[in-house]
Amino acid sequence: MKNRIQIVQKDITTMAVDAIVNAANNSLLGGGGVDGAIHRRAGKKLLAACRTLGGCVTGNAKITLGYNLPASYVIHTVGPVWQGGNHGEADLLASAYWRSLEVAAQKGIKTIAFPAISTGVYGYPVQDAARIALDTVCDFLQDHDLPQKVWFVCFSSQALTIYRELYDALC
Ligand code: AR6
Repeated sequence: MKNRIQIVQKDITTMAVDAIVNAANNSLLGGGGVDGAIHRRAGKKLLAACRTLGGCVTGNAKITLGYNLPASYVIHTVGPVWQGGNHGEADLLASAYWRSLEVAAQKGIKTIAFPAISTGVYGYPVQDAARIALDTVCDFLQDHDLPQKVWFVCFSSQALTIYRELYDALC
């Protein structure tokens, strides 16, 4: 599966892939962090599209067009807020990745880019979150032809180092 995964340090809003994933909140009506950056670059039509979606429960994912983004689609998912680790956070985070990939595959999406969901405002420890991200994506790719390629987009050099170490340890 390794040849279908890439780790990069970038601003995800610049990624010219079929879909970028947004680390959104339950309202899907925008926020700070990567969510704010995606809405700013996509333009007002994205918010209008999100208003029709009726929100999203934690661990699920919904799709819109990408509007002014280089990406054709945005898959909006909601990761868990870190509460110490004993509140189902790991399962909810894995579900956010898994459901995003299911939604992508259903749309025929070939290339997709993920931010480090929940590791900003939501406070999930980056190392633990990155392990879940890589394991979940690997498991999904093992049984699915789509997406063909997955990018993990790190915003900081610290996150990049963590992702690269975990990637190197993948079989
Ligand atoms: N490109 C790639 N990664 C980014 C970018 C970017 N342009 N900007 C930030 N990151 P966060 P969360 C990284 O806080 O923790 C929002 O207000 C960032 O360094 O965006 O899931 C939503 O509306 C971090 O590693 O998302 C929710 O209310 C990662 O993206 C809440 O934040 C996620 O950080 C969701 O919190």
